[in-house]
Amino acid sequence: MNAHTDALPDAPSVTRPTPPLPTLPEWECFCDAAHKANQYAFELHCLKAAGIQVDLSGQRYSPELQQAGAQLLAARNFEAARANLLQGGIANPTEQRAAWHSALRAPAPIAEVIKERERMNEFVRVADSERRWRNIVHIGIGGSDWGVRLSLAAFGYRRSWRNVRFLANIDGHALEHALSGLDPHDTLVVIASKSFTTTETLQNGQRALEWLQAAGVANPYEQIVAITARPDAAARWGVPQGHIFQFWDWVGGRFSLWSAVSLTTALAVSADVVAGMLSGAAAMDQHFLEAPIAQNVPVQMALAGIVNRSVLGYGSLNISPYDFRLGNLVPYIQQLDMESLGKSVTLDGQPVGVPTGPAVWGLAGTDAQHTFYQWLHQGSDGAPVDFIICQQADHENQEHHRLLLANCLAQREALMRGKNYEQALAECRNGGANADAAQLAHHRVHSGGRPNTLIVLPRLTPFALGALLAMYEHKIFVQGLIWGINPFDQWGVEYGKVLASGIMDELSGEQPVQNKHDASTSHWIRAFRG
Ligand code: F6P
Repeated sequence: MNAHTDALPDAPSVTRPTPPLPTLPEWECFCDAAHKANQYAFELHCLKAAGIQVDLSGQRYSPELQQAGAQLLAARNFEAARANLLQGGIANPTEQRAAWHSALRAPAPIAEVIKERERMNEFVRVADSERRWRNIVHIGIGGSDWGVRLSLAAFGYRRSWRNVRFLANIDGHALEHALSGLDPHDTLVVIASKSFTTTETLQNGQRALEWLQAAGVANPYEQIVAITARPDAAARWGVPQGHIFQFWDWVGGRFSLWSAVSLTTALAVSADVVAGMLSGAAAMDQHFLEAPIAQNVPVQMALAGIVNRSVLGYGSLNISPYDFRLGNLVPYIQQLDMESLGKSVTLDGQPVGVPTGPAVWGLAGTDAQHTFYQWLHQGSDGAPVDFIICQQADHENQEHHRLLLANCLAQREALMRGKNYEQALAECRNGGANADAAQLAHHRVHSGGRPNTLIVLPRLTPFALGALLAMYEHKIFVQGLIWGINPFDQWGVEYGKVLASGIMDELSGEQPVQNKHDASTSHWIRAFRG
């Protein structure tokens, strides 16, 4: 299907009304059922998709809530919207684009996708056979960065003969850090940018080019690769045609991991890792398309998230991967979720009427336990937690893995079960505190009932990671649909970019300080003007 023209007739569009949730009778039923549902883990409620087990027992659950969720989805034309997304219709109406990242991992992709993938694999094959590029400097930001960092940390943690440095931040310290100690003659600079206009990326790319030139590299542009949806812009910048890998407008920046943006992963670990991730994501796409609503993992996760955010009022979602290799999952999901769901108006421009996307935060366990878990257990707000763990480790130290599993299960149980005053009092007395036990016991009470999901991967394979990421993508899509917002644009980020460019001109003295700024911004522009 042509992603630009063949939007299905039922596809949501800006012109189609998206009534705010509170005006829908289905929403009222959903809220009512959520309030009456079981609070936690009275019985096991575990689903499976693409080899991943997702235990939703720690979320609100009842048959009535299940039914109300299905009705809510029907009220938002879920099936048509899902078909529109997966068939490359206009899923992003404010930019009149598809959000067809699933096409990049389809088992039988369209010809242009196959062509770019084969070009990428050939580039890797030649580089490996010539044993070239001991160093890779990957330059890109946001979606052009996090996915590669994530897959590299997940599968390249044992280190390879190639040394990868990431350069995202415009901060000159980051630039120095990325280039220091590298041999410019054996360094490949990979510039990943969908738009090929992002200031940070282009500035850093320019500095890397100058670094190659200053080192006397014979053909500096031959040591640069660009991955972009604007091959013309990359060519104008000077990148040779054979070093430009394309993706397309219909791939959102935060979904570009599935494109040739993963070249760095293929070079640093292997092309098989990238292929494995693509097939895992494709398996999750299939599940999302075919599984009935009650067994559909992304859908059920989305509904649980809507209960937590819009009914129970939790303002954030904690991601706790109990796996050292998945530390970068936190910023990856942070961008995916917050850039997608950080919106407050419906497709037709009305206020959504309920709280939308939560703040996403977290840290790899068990570090997290010693950092912020106190707040999760006994803080006044609390947050739902996604626990992510692998049943099997890829090291030999079973004792360590059992400890990791035990910690994950224990933290989760404590968050769910809590501890009431009587239990705390008995505990204090058993511990020898008598006179002040009544008072001390208050400090040991846990409210419990904190919502959570336990996500169990069999092992951290590329297939499992691909499936996991696609699961979160689809969850976010369903939440956007229910809230009636567009999860595929990011106008808020664009506004800041425009202001930064104006302020840059004022700081450099190219423009006088404009009187349109507030008093504080004007003060600091004057103070920093050099
Ligand atoms: O943060 C805004 C954003 O547009 C992201 O969506 C994107 O991942 C990032 O900037 C980088 O954009 P580009 O790949 O076009 O350089």
